[in-house]
Amino acid sequence: MARINDHYRKLAAGYLFPEIGRRVKAFAGAHPDAKIIRLGIGDVTLPLVPAVVDAMRRAVEEMGTAAGFRGYAPEQGYEFLLDAIREHDYASRGIAVERDAVFVSDGSKQDSGNIQEIFGHEVRIAVTDPVYPVYVDTNVMAGRTSAADERGYYGGILYLPASEANGFVPDPPAERADVAYLCFPNNPTGAVATREQLVRWVAWARDADAVLIYDAAYDAYIQDPAIPRSIYEVPGAESCAIEMRSYSKRAGFTGVRCAYTVIPKGVTGTTAAGDRVALQTLWARRQATKFNGVPYVIQRGAWATHSPAGKKQTAEQVAFYMENARRLRGGLTSAGFHVFGGVHAPYIWMRVPAGMTSWGFFDELLAKANVVGTPGAGFGPAGEGYLRLSAFNSRANVDEALERIRRGFGS
Ligand code: MLT
Repeated sequence: MARINDHYRKLAAGYLFPEIGRRVKAFAGAHPDAKIIRLGIGDVTLPLVPAVVDAMRRAVEEMGTAAGFRGYAPEQGYEFLLDAIREHDYASRGIAVERDAVFVSDGSKQDSGNIQEIFGHEVRIAVTDPVYPVYVDTNVMAGRTSAADERGYYGGILYLPASEANGFVPDPPAERADVAYLCFPNNPTGAVATREQLVRWVAWARDADAVLIYDAAYDAYIQDPAIPRSIYEVPGAESCAIEMRSYSKRAGFTGVRCAYTVIPKGVTGTTAAGDRVALQTLWARRQATKFNGVPYVIQRGAWATHSPAGKKQTAEQVAFYMENARRLRGGLTSAGFHVFGGVHAPYIWMRVPAGMTSWGFFDELLAKANVVGTPGAGFGPAGEGYLRLSAFNSRANVDEALERIRRGFGS
């Protein structure tokens, strides 16, 4: 008898974005003439930049020669990419990262979902609420929680409310937690943590002997140089934090797939007997067993984003999306909505009209304006009452969506 993993049955029936896709498909089927504008899932829309295309084309040519052909990639990544990351993402900001601390992967979604495997079953997880659902769902699947209560909270997880009152950046908890997931710039609220706030988090983690899992997938969207792009800009983080970064949003790689996770040697956990073990060795072991590396062609594409041309071209893409975010913020504000985010992140977090739920507003927005958002409740109970709009789309679509929202809902 093949017993299933019962923990999966604690999860909501569908993952958030496929559920939205299902509803949008049903709407489109019933309204074939509707010109639907998708500002739901944060999926990039601009084509790959020329520097990336050229590098990938050259890599394909190489692979077609006897001398240039390569089989399995090294599971932690090719040295040319590891060194580009160390130099351009870290050394340039005064941070020393060892080569063996960097693990190139096929996405931060996978890494942030898989990282929980290296922790014991009994660790107490802390997450912000609302939160990127992957952090919670993967811990539910692993059996670290009891079933969700009627509000949607899983027993065993420590939820830290991210609300208007705290600017969507919760303080470290007073209660015990062993592993805390942080995401800044934040998905879904678009909030960023200041240096002082991150200093408090690092101090808490060191004091509590906890590990921070810092998801910096949206670091390229930070506009203010005083706001840290990396948790390692905070002294002491190298002994308590794992960081994840991605080429998805900074270079349009959502369909190409390349990211990386950094685990410095000093970040440790304990065995049942209390002995210290470097988490880096566990993750290296996990990756070597379950992962065969990111393809050469893709790593060459990622590498090209660190070249002068690649940096300039991808920065232009980020600026394009940030102009969309600026328009969404301004347009929605003048239409009478309360909006947050969109300044250092490609996400706008808006209050739904009084008396509506976030799924209710999602449905109305689709029906009246033919615009797709993401209901805040999909990111956790504290997301109720909000809706997320993504800035990833063409200028014309963003302007058109705003116009329709103004017509349909403006005050
Ligand atoms: C989102 O819309 O929240 C993101 O696209 C999800 C992701 O990066 O996996």
